[in-house]
Amino acid sequence: MNLLIINGPNLNMLGKREPAIYGSDSLLEVNNKIEAVATEKGITVSFVQSNSEGVMIDSIHNAMGNYNAIILNPGAYTHYSLALSDAIASVDIPVIEVHLSNIHAREDYRKTSVTASKCIGQISGFGYYSYVLAIEALCKKLGK
Ligand code: DQA
Repeated sequence: MNLLIINGPNLNMLGKREPAIYGSDSLLEVNNKIEAVATEKGITVSFVQSNSEGVMIDSIHNAMGNYNAIILNPGAYTHYSLALSDAIASVDIPVIEVHLSNIHAREDYRKTSVTASKCIGQISGFGYYSYVLAIEALCKKLGK
């Protein structure tokens, strides 16, 4: 199984950015933890981080035919990007939405996701383990 993990805006600032909410690990450290779990399961993971909505949309489109599934943390785009929502709907591979923080326990504007309804599910609130849970879910879903 070949997975694409896409992290959206400001996630390059992990470790420095609001550590009480997002933890003290850098994005590289988070990615290394995810990769270690994936490798143990014989799964290949590739990582993309972009602060640009267009780059994220292109990454979702280009995943079709190249990856079995996408794990997507859309960052703040979660809450308002209909373009990202349409991009998810336009590809024929499963997408799981993940969040490090529990978006349902934060400000009201974070409780809405315009992207989750186009995904097979949403996992929120478990730090880097949200991504690991998404990998577990995809293993079940894709029969690996
Ligand atoms: C986030 C939650 C979003 O509300 C926020 O804008 C982020 C990170 C998370 O992983 O908890 O950038 O997606």
